[in-house]
Amino acid sequence: MKSVLILNGPNLNLLGTRQPEVYGAETLAMVEEACRAHGAAAGIEVSCFQSNHEGALLDQIHAAKGVHIGIVLNAGAYTHTSVALMDAIYSVEVPTVEVHLSNIHARESFRHTSYISRAAIGQICGFGSFGYLMAIDALLQRQLRNEAS
Ligand code: DQA
Repeated sequence: MKSVLILNGPNLNLLGTRQPEVYGAETLAMVEEACRAHGAAAGIEVSCFQSNHEGALLDQIHAAKGVHIGIVLNAGAYTHTSVALMDAIYSVEVPTVEVHLSNIHARESFRHTSYISRAAIGQICGFGSFGYLMAIDALLQRQLRNEAS
């Protein structure tokens, strides 16, 4: 069965209580469950992982090669700092969709820069948790298009 990895970075374990006016009231467990249900409806398995540690996120990206058809990555604040995460995505060549709950381009200027965007196939931001579901669909569409060609 095809699978997608949902990878969440630092502080996203605090969803639900962390600045709900910015990030919404849903917990990470709720977001992950919605992703699993969305994937199941489309016939794909969804694996979820969250860490506050950059190295642990790197290890997950490395391990995704040959296992998942794609990665949905919300790298949290590492988005704006991590050359290592960008390099990992380039290295494994697993299609990665960058997701942010908030519209990072409408926020502080330090959030406008994303290292992830350089290596990702696309970015979805500003739609809250619905962005994760859009990202799953984008990866599935890409995979089906590739299989057809
Ligand atoms: C975020 C945006 C980042 O700037 C921030 O550091 C986060 C969450 C988002 O989902 O909107 O931790 O990635």
